[in-house]
This record gives sequence, structure tokens and C-alpha cells, in this order.
Amino acid sequence: MEQKDIYILAIESSCDETAAAVVKNGREVLSNVIYSQIALHTEYGGVVPEIASRKHIEKINQVIAQALSEADKKLEEITAIAVTYGPGLVGALLVGVSAAKAISFATGIPLIGVHHIEGHISANFIENKELEPPFICLVVSGGHSHLVTVKDYGEYEILGRTRDDAAGEAFDKVARAIGLGYPGGPKIDKVSKEGNPEAIRFPRAKVAESEYDFSFSGLKSAVLNYLNGCQMKGEEINQADVAASFQKAVVDVLTEHSIDAVKKHNYRKFAIAGGVASNSSLRNALRDACEKEGIAFYHPSPVYCTDNAAMIGVAGYYEYLKGVRHGFDLNAVPNLKLGERI
Ligand code: KG4
Ligand code: ZN
Repeated sequence: MEQKDIYILAIESSCDETAAAVVKNGREVLSNVIYSQIALHTEYGGVVPEIASRKHIEKINQVIAQALSEADKKLEEITAIAVTYGPGLVGALLVGVSAAKAISFATGIPLIGVHHIEGHISANFIENKELEPPFICLVVSGGHSHLVTVKDYGEYEILGRTRDDAAGEAFDKVARAIGLGYPGGPKIDKVSKEGNPEAIRFPRAKVAESEYDFSFSGLKSAVLNYLNGCQMKGEEINQADVAASFQKAVVDVLTEHSIDAVKKHNYRKFAIAGGVASNSSLRNALRDACEKEGIAFYHPSPVYCTDNAAMIGVAGYYEYLKGVRHGFDLNAVPNLKLGERI
């Protein structure tokens, strides 16, 4: 018997992107609409939660309608609605969750809550049709830095995590300190191309007793101390050199931890995910290191690295196949743990 196609309408509103997408059979993106609020938050130097929630409310219906129309799908043709319910900003998450619940209530289409990081990891399945678990994934975003074993769809073991700042957070804070503004990651990526990554030797932090954990706050402080030192001595700061040297320190640590983990656990596949995974220097370093070790390297295109709803649709599809369904009591869970289902 021929299998019926499964269409997931996905909604994402955990931070400052209002996004909706339609995904066919888990791996084919029919539409991926992203309304980015970045310009609104830039003037404050970071995401203002209250502004994010208000803008999500304004935009969400329009973004969902556009995702359906670009996919040329009507609600009657949608199999299930997947929505990010955590982790993230509670007020922002609530907008997506409420919209998804309202559509599900009005139409009877099943509702599936999705973990945001599970979405980031699943972004790898969109363009790498052959990729299947198990593999190791480095998740580096604005709020998370995790080294994870993807044992099966929706099944994870966390090998390491950040003890303090997330990688993206460090990029954003250092960018602000050297006058690049928000969002820092893409700006540091760009300006680093003009700088010398060996100009300043910033520390590569190791975390005692946990070989795969990360710590980026020491590196951030080292950059701030360096900037203060220059200022006190009346020395001019070379923005590109500081950016490139900081970026190199982050890339070195992420690469070393990742390759160690893949080798020690005997995996032959490695993937990256999250906003920082779009960093060109990180991608190049990991590609080279994987090639040297004979490890297959997977990464989503930049548009699927930063927040989007297509990745939520992919994760939602595998949850759907597992039989996961949520009731109308689905709530936003700002500190939802990876692998946890509430
Ligand atoms: O995954 P994401 O869109 O949102 C979260 O779930 O946090 O990640 C956003 C983070 C920001 O910190 C941003 O500065 C960083 O990803 N980012 C980058 C790059 N593009 C975005 N960091 C380094 N290089 C980039 N090219
Ligand atoms: Zn994210």
C-alpha cells in the first residue's frame, strides 16, 4: 500500500525570529518563512524579551499564512502542527505555543511540542538526505553549547556542555566590547577575515574533571582585560586582530573537544548545529579536522543554522512517527532539558 505523505506545519518563536514552515515527509522543506526582529533589538545591544513577545504577536498569523501559501497547502492538508515549547524566552515561546494550540483546537489537527535544540540538530537532516543517527553533534547557539550523541531520532546523550556562557553569547559580548554591535557572531565572522588570528594569544579554557565541557567566560574576560590594558597604555586597538584572535580561541576549543569526542566514542559521523555553526572559520576548521581523521562532516546551510521553523518541522516529523502528541495543556517551558518530554 502506498504511504500517505505527511505534512508538518511548524512554528518557532523562542527568541527573536517569528518563523513558520511546511515540511513534507520530514526532510523536504516546502516553505520556510522567517521574520527576523534583529533590526528592532540592535539599538538596545541585545534581545529585549518584552519587545520580542509583542512583535511575535503582531507577526505570527501573517507568517503562518505565508508559510502555508508558499507551500501551496491548506490547513486541511496538514497532518500535524509542531511548535517550539522550550527552551527560550517564556513570553516569546507562549506566542507560538498559543497560536499552534488555537489552530489545533479549531481544526482538530494534532499538536506536537518540539524542543528547540532538537530542532537545531534536526536541521542537518534537511540537506543531508543520507544522514541517519547515530552521530555526534556540536550544538552552538546564542543560548547553548552542547556536545551531544544523537543515538536515535529524538534520543540524546549529552557528553559536554558549557559551564558558563554559550559560544554565541561570547561572540555577542566580545563584539559589543570591540564596538561591532549586535548580533556579534556574523560581525566577528566578517571582520576576522581582515585580521590575524595569531596576533593575540587568548586562553583556551579546559574544564577540570570533565573533558567535554566548555567554558567561555574566562576567554571573554581575557579579551576585556586586553582591551583595558591597551586603553591604559594608550595603544590603539586593532579590531580585526582582536576579533580574529578571539574567534580562533573559540574555534580551537570547539574543534578539539568535538574531534576528541567523535574519536573516543568511535563514531564516523559528526554534525554541527545552531547559529554559531554558520561561522565560516568554525566550519573550515571542523571540515579540515574531520577530513584528516576520516570522519564524515555534516552541516546545515546558514539559513537552517540560525533560528527557523523548518528545523522544528523536521524534529516534529520524527516525534509524530514516535506517536508523540500534546494536549491543549501544552505550555511554554523556558528551561526545557534536551531529551525531556513534558
Ligand atoms: O541558534 P540561534 O539563531 O539562536 C539561539 O537559539 O540562540 O543562534 C544565535 C547566535 C547569536 O549569538 C549569534 O551571534 C550567533 O548565533 N551567530 C554566529 C554567526 N551567526 C550567528 N556566531 C558566529 N559566527 C556567525 N557567522
Ligand atoms: Zn536557536
